[in-house]
Amino acid sequence: MKKILETVFVCNNCGNEFAKWSGQCPTCKSWNALQEFPISNNQFPIKGKKRSLGKIEVKKLSEIKEENNTNQNVFSTQISEFDRVLGKGIVRGSVVLFAGEPGIGKSTLLTQLVGKNGGLYVAGEESAEQINLRVRRLGLSPERFDVLETNSVEEIGQVLERTNNVYKIVVVDSIQTMLVGSTVTGTGTLGSFGSVNQIRESTFRLVELAKKTGVAIFIVGHVTKEGDIAGPKLLEHMVDTVLYFEGEKKGDLRILRVSKNRFGPTDEVGVFQMSDAGLSGVRNLNLSGSGESKVGSAITIVMEGTRSMMVEIQALVTESFASMPTRVFSGIDNNRGRLLVAVAQKVLGMPLWKYDVYVSVTGGIRVDDTGCDLAIMGAMYSSFKEKPIKMGGAQGIAPVLIGEVSLLGEVKKVRGWEKREKEAKAMGRVVPIIYSIGELKNLI
Ligand SMILES: Nc1ncnc2c1ncn2[C@@H]1O[C@H](COP(=O)(O)OP(=O)(O)OP(=O)(O)O)[C@@H](O)[C@H]1O
Ligand SMILES: [Mg+2]
Repeated sequence: MKKILETVFVCNNCGNEFAKWSGQCPTCKSWNALQEFPISNNQFPIKGKKRSLGKIEVKKLSEIKEENNTNQNVFSTQISEFDRVLGKGIVRGSVVLFAGEPGIGKSTLLTQLVGKNGGLYVAGEESAEQINLRVRRLGLSPERFDVLETNSVEEIGQVLERTNNVYKIVVVDSIQTMLVGSTVTGTGTLGSFGSVNQIRESTFRLVELAKKTGVAIFIVGHVTKEGDIAGPKLLEHMVDTVLYFEGEKKGDLRILRVSKNRFGPTDEVGVFQMSDAGLSGVRNLNLSGSGESKVGSAITIVMEGTRSMMVEIQALVTESFASMPTRVFSGIDNNRGRLLVAVAQKVLGMPLWKYDVYVSVTGGIRVDDTGCDLAIMGAMYSSFKEKPIKMGGAQGIAPVLIGEVSLLGEVKKVRGWEKREKEAKAMGRVVPIIYSIGELKNLI
């Protein structure tokens, strides 16, 4: 018998831990979700605990060789959007949690990652045949693509130790199907598949394995309806990097975001487009047609991290017959949209109190960047006037509107202006310099 030192109550819904049991989780308010778990020395080995006293050693940074920290430890994913999100690339021995809703394309992107670099794909959900079909469908090379069908974390450990540095990348799909303990019954000493404690312990073992063997491990994690990673919050603390893969399932656009990164910035995004051939990096979003100016449409360039991206804003301004006119904003912040409607009413003299206003960002992405204010304003004004925005370098090509709109209708330069302008010019577009939204009248 292991000596049980302590027990802890873990919420199966949100993963928070409590010292005492209660019928309702104090954090997420779900009922009957708290489960008791033993914490023993064996289950949670802490670095140093097992060493004898004489061996404790303090490391001098000045004596640690620098090569351990140089770029040799970072290698490219061979997928440029992926590299950007990770910082420079994959860090050896690191653990990346790759989270996303069901069916969003997690397995597809990680299959592409292994296909391009070689590696081991641990299939907890699918069979090797299914993965083989996917690899062929995506046109990837099956050479250097190994599959381990298992739900056992111990087996992953054995394979990695046996193969000793053959793999640079290991994908575990998914953490919810991994188990420490007996996989025959589907329950280990720590509870069944997907339970908070299993997820936590499996992740803990995988982190240890990555550090020990130097392979980079990508762990797939499903997210709950609320958008959290199913499993304990602790999971996010244990891994080096947390990525979220998201997008509208109806649309084909996918955004890869980083919410934690021990090796790089967290404000980068990668944009992908889903097709039969898999996910490919996207430079500019859904610009329908030939680039000619259309009624109710304006082009802008948004910045996400250091990435600039051309997007189209569409607006529909129609006479309202309701006592309260409708305001629908999709892809932009509701309050920001309302504010811009008010400024348009005041400064451009549009009688929007008797008009319904709909604004959307094409491609189903969300922009959180005041640099697109001017384009939102331009799209609304164009729809109201029923005329396209017409100033362009080449005939009829829509100009790019960039700028933040103040309450007084002034237009201000925004962060990354030069980069945005350069991107627009590279796409053969003109960026008019505008100081006040009143000048939109000259463009229509
Ligand atoms: N045989 C196929 N042909 C074309 N598209 C496919 C095919 N199989 C899958 N897809 C597309 O790939 C999408 C994502 O699949 P993928 O398995 O990568 O998602 P996932 O995030 O791993 O899902 P899950 O949470 O179920 O594991 C599917 O929704 C579908 O649009
Ligand atoms: Mg999958």
